[in-house]
Amino acid sequence: MKKYKIANTDLEVSKVAYGCMGIGGSWDDSPLTDKVITKAAEAITTALENGINFFDHADIYKKGKSELVFGKILKEMKNIRDKIIIQSKCGIRFKGNPNPNSPGRYDFSYEHIINSVDNSLKRLGTEYLDILLLHRPDPLMEPEEVAKAFDEVRKKGKVRYFGVSNFNGNQISLLQNSLDNPLVVNQIEISLLHHHVINDGILANQLSGNYAAATGILDYCKLNKIQVQAWSPVALGKIFNPVPDSDEKEKQLANQISIYAEEKRTSKEAIALAWLLKHPVGIQPVIGTTNPERIKNSCLADDIELSREEWYTLFTIARGAPVP
Ligand SMILES: NC(=O)c1ccc[n+]([C@@H]2O[C@H](COP(=O)([O-])OP(=O)(O)OC[C@H]3O[C@@H](n4cnc5c(N)ncnc54)[C@H](OP(=O)(O)O)[C@@H]3O)[C@@H](O)[C@H]2O)c1
Repeated sequence: MKKYKIANTDLEVSKVAYGCMGIGGSWDDSPLTDKVITKAAEAITTALENGINFFDHADIYKKGKSELVFGKILKEMKNIRDKIIIQSKCGIRFKGNPNPNSPGRYDFSYEHIINSVDNSLKRLGTEYLDILLLHRPDPLMEPEEVAKAFDEVRKKGKVRYFGVSNFNGNQISLLQNSLDNPLVVNQIEISLLHHHVINDGILANQLSGNYAAATGILDYCKLNKIQVQAWSPVALGKIFNPVPDSDEKEKQLANQISIYAEEKRTSKEAIALAWLLKHPVGIQPVIGTTNPERIKNSCLADDIELSREEWYTLFTIARGAPVP
């Protein structure tokens, strides 16, 4: 798989990244079982064999068990740590933590960031994260406080680079203003079934559209050399498997993806991901399947180039309307 450099870093990353939210078993405190470990090992090995070198985590995935199982598998693979890139996230806290009546919330406090990084490193069994993202914007964010935490973990060699997730441009600017080093990633939801960040751009100043929602986040990221990553790039498989009560455009979209996959002798996953890869902002899809066959199929996207006509055909079907 082809690789490229994330701007303002020395990280050479695969075009497709592997999202580790699916590994680690269930979302509870039950211990890892052999079955869970074997399934995770299969997924990680398949990703590596198909050219993926980038692994996305979060402190909360499977209540820490995604990082834990990844750490166990990493330990078995000798001399691999410096050949892969590990990204994790912090800033979301579940309901009931630390007290039974604590609400689900975001937490960008100095203490939470420091503790979260230390715990992620322990679970992953590594000395450093390549990238740390703030998971979702915290309305109580104090940029100076985040800067202090980032500074500390960077100086101690625990985190090399920083980024954000689900942020808009203003929120990135606000935080960046207090940081010494550039934010290098913004991870947001993008797929053919969740294409608002692309659609917004063509609705700017259109009375017929929701022009007020135009965030320009993709343009912002390109202008500021921030790598865009797409989470849920195949909308949990819904892109390929419309259910009987899915709307007409979802059925048509699935059908058109199948037609292109057949014409190009490739997989449906490759077509859905190639649609993201064609965007000039340079989107890195973060795939979440744990199924080895689907991981392989996703990596075929690297070789697929959609024409402008094919890209717009999929886009207009997904929009449910021609472009204005
Ligand atoms: N920053 C954030 O806020 C945020 C939010 C969500 C996720 N993420 C990251 O993004 C990664 C990917 O997200 P995601 O898991 O939602 O992405 P996804 O790749 O769109 O969906 C993966 C899920 O869809 C199923 N699936 C995939 N292809 C399928 C198909 N052809 N048919 C049926 N089911 C299919 C998978 O099941 P199988 O495993 O059985 O294939 C898996 O449960 C996560 O692992 C995580 O790292 C980030």
